[in-house]
Amino acid sequence: MLTTHWILGPGAIGRLLAHSLEPYAKVALIGRRALPGQQMLTTPEGERRAQRLNTLTVDQLGAAGLPAPGFIHITTKAMAAEAALESISKVIPSTSPLVLWQNGFLAQPRITESWPGPVLCATTTQGAYLSGDDGVVHAGRGQTFIGDLRDQHRSVSEALAETLTKAGFTATAVDDIRQRLWQKLAVNAAINPLVALHGVRNGELRGARYSGRVESVINQVAMILQAEGIQPPNAGQSEDAWRALVWQVVDNTASNKASMLQDVEANRPTEREAILGPLIESAQHHGLPCEVLQALDAEIAALEASYLSAR
Ligand code: PAF
Repeated sequence: MLTTHWILGPGAIGRLLAHSLEPYAKVALIGRRALPGQQMLTTPEGERRAQRLNTLTVDQLGAAGLPAPGFIHITTKAMAAEAALESISKVIPSTSPLVLWQNGFLAQPRITESWPGPVLCATTTQGAYLSGDDGVVHAGRGQTFIGDLRDQHRSVSEALAETLTKAGFTATAVDDIRQRLWQKLAVNAAINPLVALHGVRNGELRGARYSGRVESVINQVAMILQAEGIQPPNAGQSEDAWRALVWQVVDNTASNKASMLQDVEANRPTEREAILGPLIESAQHHGLPCEVLQALDAEIAALEASYLSAR
């Protein structure tokens, strides 16, 4: 029997997952508002593939008569994950395996703590963006890693990684997902807030106007991650290894508009709480300096407030 995958949050990664899994599994793509069932995927090679997806709203779930989900993927933004889970909690068994696809390190520990069933976390470098209510563009293929924070559900992660890989969404089950989530968070913290505040593409961080601030963020982040027991990338020496990685990502994504800048431009809440929040909390816990991170957080918060309060 085909496993049923519920995908909660029909953003770019959610829709890409739905398109990939549809031929191999039973898929339900669930959002707050109705989306057309006829959906278009544009592949990295530019090929356009139409596919019918089972799109549903949260309100329709109760009456939809779907089989119990084998996996529930939560693909919302970080700060919306808990509310999204709450919105479907009455129609799912509390033993259902969840897969959290969020950036940062906010939703993952909280939901791992509160959910009785297995909670897997995924981190991906797949690149995708939406092209309207009926389309997603798969901009670049990437790697996905899956594991759970307590390393208790290895076989569940392996089963999911195998299905995803068969579906062309290359995935590997790992026992160090906490390390990987924090490593991604570190890079995001050095790039996202600054480009969002100044409205610049990632590559501009190399310029004299911003590079000093990037370096100050890396200094504080490297100390915090060391205190958290997070290995520096590429088996390097802590601060130098983080510095090398951040500048490498800046160069590799020089022409990108980072996700936080896209949120600001669309007047959406940013993921600052999930990216800067855990770093600041950890610094305070370990008695480490974090004034650079706090200043960035306050500036982003003020920027957000300026447009969210006008809504
Ligand atoms: O959030 C993003 O946009 C990306 O994670 C990164 C690495 C900052 C590149 O744009």
